Amino acid sequence: MQFYSCVVCLLLAALSSAEQTDLTSNLSEDASAVQLKEIQQQLVQLNNKLNTLSTQIANLLDTKNDQSCDRKTAITDCGEASGKESGIFPLRICTEPTFNVYCNQSFEGGGWMVIYNRIDGRNGIFNQTWESYKHGFGEPNGEHFIGLDRLHAITYGSSYEIAFLLTVDGEEQFGIYDHFEVDNEWENYPIRRIGSARGSMRLFRDNNELHRFQTYDRNNLHPLARDAMFKQECAFWFVDMPHMYSISFEEFCANLRRLKIMIRRRPNAI
Ligand SMILES: *[C@@H]1O[C@H](CO)[C@@H](O)[C@H](O)[C@H]1NC(C)=O
Ligand SMILES: *[C@@H]1O[C@H](CO)[C@@H](O)[C@H](O)[C@H]1NC(C)=O
Ligand SMILES: *[C@@H]1O[C@H](CO)[C@@H](O)[C@H](O)[C@H]1NC(C)=O
Repeated sequence: MQFYSCVVCLLLAALSSAEQTDLTSNLSEDASAVQLKEIQQQLVQLNNKLNTLSTQIANLLDTKNDQSCDRKTAITDCGEASGKESGIFPLRICTEPTFNVYCNQSFEGGGWMVIYNRIDGRNGIFNQTWESYKHGFGEPNGEHFIGLDRLHAITYGSSYEIAFLLTVDGEEQFGIYDHFEVDNEWENYPIRRIGSARGSMRLFRDNNELHRFQTYDRNNLHPLARDAMFKQECAFWFVDMPHMYSISFEEFCANLRRLKIMIRRRPNAI
């Protein structure tokens, strides 16, 4: 009897413990179910967020594509237009709006940007003030100057070479300097460094004299030199010479009337 009661006791204990485990397991099942539901809800929310984000990204990419469509051919250097024909390309420096430059892809391997071009001498186009030379003038498919501000922005701290092409008696002669860098307006846009030259023509002596930009209305030159600049419509990088003047200065000025200048970013430059 005692044995049976004991068995009943055990059974009850087993049952109750079974019930308990059942309960707890039901409890934890419920908890997992709740958690699962929560997780599912979170997943749905995340999924929605992802969808929204990818829509936003797609929209952004679309507008960006639109922008690059507007400026399809915008370049930062004529080297980027290599392989293409010579011609006019919109150039972008920093955050400024683009402006057109002429890229010459046939001279010495191409990649040259024309920064100064004079063809038929005296016509008043180059008879300009400091302010004009600062901002540039003319059209890239004709006679023009790119402007000192842009030259500074393009070349300063970068690695550019420069080609001077002078037409003498219908023959074109050239001199290429392997470094060209223009400093800021505060310093009068001096050529900070001109490299060593190759080619048949020299515009600068191979030394470290500082050539600052000089116009008829802003210069540090002898009065006779100033007159010559006026007469020859010239403005250029000259060594300061307030105390002396030579006839070769006027000859130099006169030569600028048939000059073309191009710059090219050197390979492996930034
Ligand atoms: C425990 O779970 C079982 C099946 O999973 C169910 O039939 C039972 O009703 C649940 N018990 C309680 C107390 O929720
Ligand atoms: C490129 O420049 C060179 C040198 O001035 C010139 O002979 C040539 O005609 C130019 N090419 C083009 C396509 O402008
Ligand atoms: C250059 O411009 C100045 C100022 O406008 C003018 O007085 C002068 O006659 C011009 N010179 C030439 C050669 O056109």
